Formats: sequence, structure tokens, C-alpha cells
Amino acid sequence: MIKKNVLPKTFLWGGATAANQYEGAWNLDGKKASTADMMTGGTHIIPRRITKKLEQGTYYPSHEAVDFYHHYEEDIRLFAEMGFKCFRMSIAWSRIFPNADDKTPNEEGLKFYDKVFAELKKYNIEPIVTISHYEAPFALTEKYNGWASREAIDFYVNYCEAIFTRYRNLVKYWITFNEINSLLVPAGAYLEGALLVDDSGLFNNTNVDSTQIRLQALHHQFVASAKAVQLGHEINPDFKIGCMINYSCGYASTCKPEDMVIALRQDQINNMLCGDVQVLGEYPAFAKRQFEEKNIKINMAEGDEEILKKGCVDFYTFSYYKSHVVGTRPEGDETQGNVFGGFKNPYLKANDWGWQIDPVGLRYVLNHVYDRYRIPIMIVENGLGAVDVVETDGTINDDYRINFIKDHIEQMKEAVYDGVDLIGYTAWGCIDLVSASTGEMKKRYGFIYVDKDNDGKGTLKRSKKKSFYWYKKVIESNGEELS
Ligand code: BG6
Repeated sequence: MIKKNVLPKTFLWGGATAANQYEGAWNLDGKKASTADMMTGGTHIIPRRITKKLEQGTYYPSHEAVDFYHHYEEDIRLFAEMGFKCFRMSIAWSRIFPNADDKTPNEEGLKFYDKVFAELKKYNIEPIVTISHYEAPFALTEKYNGWASREAIDFYVNYCEAIFTRYRNLVKYWITFNEINSLLVPAGAYLEGALLVDDSGLFNNTNVDSTQIRLQALHHQFVASAKAVQLGHEINPDFKIGCMINYSCGYASTCKPEDMVIALRQDQINNMLCGDVQVLGEYPAFAKRQFEEKNIKINMAEGDEEILKKGCVDFYTFSYYKSHVVGTRPEGDETQGNVFGGFKNPYLKANDWGWQIDPVGLRYVLNHVYDRYRIPIMIVENGLGAVDVVETDGTINDDYRINFIKDHIEQMKEAVYDGVDLIGYTAWGCIDLVSASTGEMKKRYGFIYVDKDNDGKGTLKRSKKKSFYWYKKVIESNGEELS
């Protein structure tokens, strides 16, 4: 029986990271460059560049990141001190298959994650592993045009086989691709699809619009994900394998019926298309019309439909940071967001990067998704990117972050009371790490501060922010104590 303000005892509280933003050691122990390793630093104003060759004297934030590679024991100890029940991390594909098409995995790379999983086990922290989080071996881009190539499916499945087999008794929860729906927009082409697309959305220095290629690449990822689900269940029937959607919540700008239809279409395309394929095992009817109108033709190999049908995920996960407005352009200008943007909502405030803060939207999204899929849900990213100030006594008083997360947890609890089967919450960037969109360090999300600046300078020393002690209390009380 679900009660107000009470979460299930098994609720998975924790934090989330991604190898390319956290791990560093980009070329150690057999690892080669990943797609992320070719991205320069940037800012809110100056976008990150993708370089096809590494440039001397250019700063690449992922190369060292915040060096989890050499700090994993310390970091996991700190997570345990906060009481984490789970920890979302990703495996760097380029650490295991440095050239994408290697015949055998890199043993040194596998050993690193043996150590990480052993350390997590020591503290009873359940790993939640993203198999590809905005990262692929750069060789996949160079030699195969990334996910545009169907061969990427086999490389990915080989990679899955290697890690599923090696960690079959250490990892139960897997996520096939981070924010798979990013491939719907040019901004996600490289991040998610390892595809080279220029600013005007053209593919790899040709005059070809990337939409067709991105959607074909997305299809390849759907097939790869479905194959991974089947393979994972064969290797260990207890595996729980999930999808991950960047949930772009867009409200209709007015109550004009046409605006409502625009909001509906946007929700279908941006959010539901990928969820439907991965959870329900088939392309939804609305996609067919959308593809027809945009002249998109997905090239399906024989058997693909069956593979999708047989590879439905066990649980649904998503990231949630913000919402926006769509439809008749309202007063005010455009708002920013991770991957998907829209117009400003006059009822909401924004963070320093222009992402509008909307805790109530989280309750809406949770209900909406659960109504459609009826499978367990996990919020695997949520948090506030903010500039933190270290006071002269060394403290970091991040009340703004506490308030943000508190407001979202309150709404999450409302959704559970509404009947949503929510099994976990992992706060994004539980320890400060490199921002995916800007490459900055000053856009911090962590409960743990890391001494490093935007130019890569700093001691990498870890220290606890005020939110560290607050989140510890939240977990201890299973979300009842939020003040
Ligand atoms: C999500 C990504 O879109 O947003 C993360 O999965 C990313 O990798 C997070 O870091 C926050 O975005 P940003 O740009 O502030 O790092």
C-alpha cells in the first residue's frame, strides 16, 4: 500500500556520472581516444570544437577530467559516507575496445572496472552501468562514420558481450545508451552518434543534410540496444537492462487547440519515439507520418523488426533538468537546455546557463511516462549546474543546490503517491565533473567539490559541500527528512 511521503524501503538513492566527464586517464593502460577526447573546452558562449586530430597546446577537458581513474577508492568511500545505495557510472568503450573493431577486449581496461565494482561491493553500493554515455572509440568515427554504419551494431554487441560476461556477477542494472533521443537533433549527432556534422547540420563536410543519417544511426542504435537486451538476458537472466531518454518536457504556450497539438507532436517525436521503440519494441504510428513528411526513409535490414520486438527493455530511465514552452511564440525569447530547447516559461526561473527550473514538471513527466509504459522507472539524472564559492574557511554553502534537489524530490514523492513505480533517483554529477555541453568545470553539480578550474588547473582535492551532509540525511531517512 503506497502512503503519502513514504518511499519503498528498496528505493535506490545515489548519484550519477559518465566516464568521459569523470574518469580521465584517456590514454592509459591501452585506452585510445574516444569521441569525447577529441572535444575541446568551451563556455556558455563559445561552443566546444570537435578536432579530427589532437592539437598541441589545446585543452581537452576529458583527458584528465577529475581523474576518477586514480581516485576511485576515495570517491567511492565518500559516496558510501553519504549512504549511496547505488552509483550510476559508465564504462568507457574506448578503454575496452580502443579501436572499436578489435577482436578481443583490452584486459587492462577490464581490470580497472573489476577494481571499481569490487570497491562498490565493499560498501554494498549497487552499480548502474551505462554502456555508452556520449562516448565511443574515436576510431568508430574515423573509420566507419560512427553509427551511420551498420557495422557499429556488431562492434557494440561484441563490447556488450565482453562486459556482460566479465561482470555478470557484479552488475545487475545496465543502461544501453545515454539519452538515445539526442540523435534526433544535430547537436547530438557527434555526442550520441559519433557522427561528424557541421554547425548547419550537414554531414561530414558534404552537402548532405544530416537528418536522414542521424535517424538511420538511431535505428542502428535501436537494433544494437535490442540485441544487447537479448544477449544480456542470455548471459544472466537476472540482469535488468534499461533505456535512457533525455526527457524534454514542452508545455503548450497557450490553450489554443493548435498549440496543444504542437506540444503533443513534440512530446511524441522528442520523447516517446525512442521510448516506444525500446519499451514497446516497435516504431510508433506517429513516427511513420513524421518520417514521410520529412522524406526520411529508414533502411531496415531483414529481421530488424523482430529484433526490436524481442529486445524490449526491463526498465525506463530518464534525465530531467528543465522544461520549456512550445507553440505560438510567447512573449520572451528562447530558453536553453541540454540538447532540446524551446521558449521561456514566464512562471519559471532559470539557472545561470538559462535552463528553466521546474520541479512540478518532474511529477508530470513521471505520471505521463508510467501511464504509457507501466514498467519500473528510474530518474538517473537531475541536478543543478551552478557556480560554487569556496569560503575562506573552506566551506561551500550550496543552499541553491539543496533547494533545487529538495523541490524535485518532493514532486517525485508526489508522483510515487500518484502510483508511479519509481525505483530510484541518482543525482547528476554527485561529484563535480566536466560539463558535457560546455566542457567547463565551473558548471558544478556535485555534493563533493573538486579543486579544478575551467583551464584544467587545480589540485583535484575533494571536499564536502553543505549539500553532502544534507543528501546524507535525505538518504538516511529514505527521503522523509528534506529540510
Ligand atoms: C545530460 C547528459 O544531458 O546532461 C550528461 O547525460 C550531462 O552527460 C548532463 O553532463 C548535464 O549537462 P551539462 O551540459 O550541464 O553537463
